[in-house]
This record gives sequence, structure tokens and C-alpha cells, in this order.
Amino acid sequence: MLTANALSAVLTDKSRLLIINTPANPTGTVYTRKALEAIAAVVVKHPRLLVVSDEIFEHIIYSPTTYTSIASIPGMWERTLTVNGFSKVFAMTGWRLGYLAAPTKFLKPMAKIQSQVGLPVQSSSYSRKRIWVAGMKIGAMLPISHSSQFAPPPSSTCST
Ligand SMILES: Cc1ncc(COP(=O)(O)O)c(C=O)c1O
Repeated sequence: MLTANALSAVLTDKSRLLIINTPANPTGTVYTRKALEAIAAVVVKHPRLLVVSDEIFEHIIYSPTTYTSIASIPGMWERTLTVNGFSKVFAMTGWRLGYLAAPTKFLKPMAKIQSQVGLPVQSSSYSRKRIWVAGMKIGAMLPISHSSQFAPPPSSTCST
């Protein structure tokens, strides 16, 4: 597990992106709120550092463990791109659907690129539209999907 001290020791003025994965695959580590607050305190000292937080296992945790999204820590929403997807929690691996939540200023250029790169989930385009609309209502969400070139057929039941 990444600690605030370890992070602080390696960050430089050139550091641009911190990737956090909690709950983590493959270790199962779930960062506590306290640990994330300590990491956030280090991150905010580096104004050009962004965070990508992969939270695709957010609901696969066991009591008494609780889950915290780093974007919910004060000062972090502005610099965090939270990525998630439906494959783990809803066993929807074949749909190749994910989503991203971030401040609008990041979404606009990302949407430009995403609109030109792979829109493979034709059978679920209705759902994609609904997700898009839901996201635009909160001004913070961008549906993403993997390239159809690499996607398994929709009936696939594989996980991970
Ligand atoms: C931590 C993590 N994030 C994202 C993914 C991507 O999931 P998928 O390709 O099923 O959307 C995986 C897949 O195993 C994962 O382990």
C-alpha cells in the first residue's frame, strides 16, 4: 500500500499523475479514509499533479471495511479523475462499459478524443445514452468503453 511518506519521498516538480487503485486488484488492499487524507495532503502540495483513481471494485468489500473515494476528500475533486466500470460489480464483463467522473474542464477535451475512438457497444447504445444523460446532469461524467477489437462477445461470462 502506498503511504503518504513514500509518496512524498518520490514526488518531484515533474510529477504529473498519481494512479490509485482502491479497493486494489490483485492485493485486495482498501485504503482507509485516513490513509487517503494523508496522501491528499501530499498531493495538494504539487499543483500540477493529477490523480486517476480506479475504483472499479468499490462495492466488492467486506464489513467492517469501508470504502472512501479520494475525490470526496476536500481539495481532491478538482484534481481527480475517478474511473469505474460495470464489469466487476454487475458482472457485465462482456459489455465493456466504464465511466469516468471528473471536473468538466477535463471532460471536454476527453470527450473530443473519445468521440473519435471506438464506440463498440452497439447492443447497449440505449444504456450508453442514458448513462451519458445522467452524467451530463451532474456535469461530471464521461462514459468510456474499450475498443471493439479487443472486446469479448456480449455473452462472455469471464471476470477480471
Ligand atoms: C483494478 C482494475 N481496474 C479496471 C479493470 C478493467 O475492468 P474491465 O476491463 O472489466 O472494465 C480491471 C480488470 O481486471 C481491474 O482489475
